[in-house]
Order: sequence, then C-alpha cells, then structure tokens
Amino acid sequence: MGTMTTTLIAVAGNALKTGAPDVEHLYELSKRRQWNASDLPWASLDFSAVPLELRRGFADLLAQTHHGELGALTASARLVQSDARLMDKLFGATQVADEARHVEWFSRLLFQLDAPAPVMPALAAFIDDVTQAGDDLHLLVGMNILIEGLAQTLMLHAGKLLGALEVPELESFKVVGTWLTERVAADESRHLAFGIGRVRALVETLDTTKRLQLEERVAQWSTQLMQLTREHSAGVAAFGLDGDELMARCLADTHSRLKLTGIESGQLTS
Ligand SMILES: [Fe+2]
Ligand SMILES: [Fe+2]
Repeated sequence: MGTMTTTLIAVAGNALKTGAPDVEHLYELSKRRQWNASDLPWASLDFSAVPLELRRGFADLLAQTHHGELGALTASARLVQSDARLMDKLFGATQVADEARHVEWFSRLLFQLDAPAPVMPALAAFIDDVTQAGDDLHLLVGMNILIEGLAQTLMLHAGKLLGALEVPELESFKVVGTWLTERVAADESRHLAFGIGRVRALVETLDTTKRLQLEERVAQWSTQLMQLTREHSAGVAAFGLDGDELMARCLADTHSRLKLTGIESGQLTS
C-alpha cells in the first residue's frame, strides 16, 4: 500500500503538463473524437448480393485485423499500467477505449458477413510475440508502431477502395469503407502519432546496451513482418489487389515510421 501510494504521488508529481504538448493535444483529440460502434446502421447492411468469393475474401481481411485489434487492446491496457507520466496514462486509457471499440466494430462486421475466416498462423505468431514482449518499450514499438502501422496502411487503402465503390449491390461495402477510413483509421493515426513521439523520446535516453537490444528486437520483428507480407491473405486476391505493390507500401511506411523514432532498422524490403 505504501509503495503504491508513493508511486501514485510520483506519477501525479509529473502533473498533467508533461512538457510534451503533442500528447496533451492528442489526448484532447481523443476525447472529442470518441464514436459509438452502435451508430453504424448494422441492420441495414446487406451482403446477400455480394458474390460469396468476395464476401469470404473480405471476411478474411477482417479476421486478420480483428486479431490485431485484440492484441492492441491487451497491449494498450498493459502500457497504461506501466506509463510513468500521468498524461501518457490518460492518453493510453483513450487508446484502450478505442481498441475496445475496434474489437466490437470488427466483431459485429464479421458476424454480419457470416463467412468463416481463419487467422493466418504467421500473423497470430507475430502478434503473440509482440504482446508477450518482456520490456514495455519493446511492446510499445512492436504494437504502436509495427502492428498499428501495418493496420493503418491497409485500412486506409481498403477503406478508400471500398468507399469509392459505385455499384448498387456493393452499397454495404461502401458504408463500411467510409467508416473504416473516417473513424477506425483516424483513431489509429492518433495511436501511431503517440507511439512515434513517445518512442523517440525514450530512445534518446537509452544507454548503448539497451539501444542495441531494442534494435536487435526490431530487426527480428522486421524479418517476421517481411515474411508475413509475402504471405498474402486470401482477401487480397479476392479483391484483385496487387499484393506485391501493397506490401511494398506497408514495408516502406514501416521503414519511414521507424526512422522517425531514431531506431536503426536496416533495410526493409519485400
Ligand atoms: Fe485499433
Ligand atoms: Fe490502435
């Protein structure tokens, strides 16, 4: 009890003003931009006119993302416990609420599509590896930069594609695509921005040994990520997407995000 009180006082001592105005700004945005998954007119979604192959392909993409969202929910909750600064805890708590909403949103959509889709083993293994990281900074890099980044690139791409559809039978895809871009991916942008800023600040304080350990871990994860992006999900083919081009974009985005954090990540190519 004594230790807990002391820790809380130390955390509160850091106060709301962290000297990191970016986090305060992101926290304000998060509070204002909370949305309710129940507001999507679920009952009006109708995928019955969508060819089964396309429905299955879409469900396949969603199942991978759903699994990532579950990982993000547990990871962000763990980071809230260990964040030393009060403002990071407050922002982190909004991320936990965001991820819960994403899990709900993807769950409801999968239910609505009614097409079973397995999670790719390589993706499940990668997410397990990240969420089980013993070091909180490693967890933050793996989750808020590598996994969230991958999701962000894919969501924006898929959302734009679906949102632009002008086929009456695919109207429900259009509705979902617009929600994906304007709500889900918008939340992920805040998580990424927080992750990049926080990691950059923490990397600057690392001694050489810790820095090398982090870079080694990131190099391992980058290898896993590259292998993963080679194994295209069935959904990519169903939508007639250029998988190689899309994955090259994911890796290029990951590379530039890592560069912003100051982590040496070597070459990321597909
Ligand atoms: Fe999410
Ligand atoms: Fe997220």
